[in-house]
Amino acid sequence: MTASMERTADPAARPVLDVQGVHKRFGDHPVLRGIDLTVDRHEVVVLIGASGSGKSTLLKTINLLEQIDDGRILLARASAGERGAAADGTEMEDITDPRIDPDRVRARIGVVFQHYNLFPHMNVLDNVTLAARQVFGASRSEAERTGLALLTRIGLADKAKEYPDRLSGGQQQRVAIARAIATDPELLLLDEITSALDPQLVGEVLDLVRDLKAAGSTIVMATHEMSFARRVADRVVYLKDGVIVESGPPEQIFDDPQREETREFLARVRDPFGE
Ligand SMILES: Nc1ncnc2c1ncn2[C@@H]1O[C@H](COP(=O)(O)OP(=O)(O)OP(=O)(O)O)[C@@H](O)[C@H]1O
Ligand SMILES: [Mg+2]
Repeated sequence: MTASMERTADPAARPVLDVQGVHKRFGDHPVLRGIDLTVDRHEVVVLIGASGSGKSTLLKTINLLEQIDDGRILLARASAGERGAAADGTEMEDITDPRIDPDRVRARIGVVFQHYNLFPHMNVLDNVTLAARQVFGASRSEAERTGLALLTRIGLADKAKEYPDRLSGGQQQRVAIARAIATDPELLLLDEITSALDPQLVGEVLDLVRDLKAAGSTIVMATHEMSFARRVADRVVYLKDGVIVESGPPEQIFDDPQREETREFLARVRDPFGE
């Protein structure tokens, strides 16, 4: 906690992601209505909001899975191999520029979604090392060395040769997270990664996210787990109908929200059947 607060207060903090005035509509339904969001390196930003408020859509626009209608999205240009250069002043690249190659952008962003993301016909180690080998051209032995180190870090080295269907849901999500970070992405997007899990498996996945945070990952995640948002977030962003109503440190959002809409939302999630 203290470490994260020190990081947040770091005057040298530089943005990894800068979402500027983003609008997105599906047909005549506006889903994102002018989103502005800057995420600094090592920051963990948690998106909360009712179902349909636009959390997943926002994450998808960042990963270029959905095209935006207006605004722009900037991502720090540094690649995994250029971290040193990035430390001295990062150049931001407009990833919504139509001339950009989306695959090149996606290679710099790790993504994990709600449902299991693993390739069922590949063993755990191949799942984790695929991108390093295919996108970044690492040799198999090099990728496997890194992959095994990652699996050791998440406590699943003994499952390296297993196929995903032999793992529990929680283990599968941990492998999916390992795969997302295997290429050392600038940014990690996590969308409801625990919502398909049995309650007793949620903890192990959330612990892994806390480990990533402690290790300095930059994360934007959507979750319905308010207790987790409180524990892991540097900043909580409350979305309603495609607009950021309020954002701030978890203590402010959860204990002293400034906006009536935020208060109403939190009262509803705390007591969904209350009057
Ligand atoms: N591909 C699509 N085509 C049409 N409408 C869509 C599409 N994707 C999302 N929507 C609509 O956009 C709105 C926002 O959806 P989104 O999935 O971003 O919400 P969310 O905040 O992630 O909700 P949840 O908490 O249920 O995951 C919803 O009204 C949804 O129906
Ligand atoms: Mg969603």
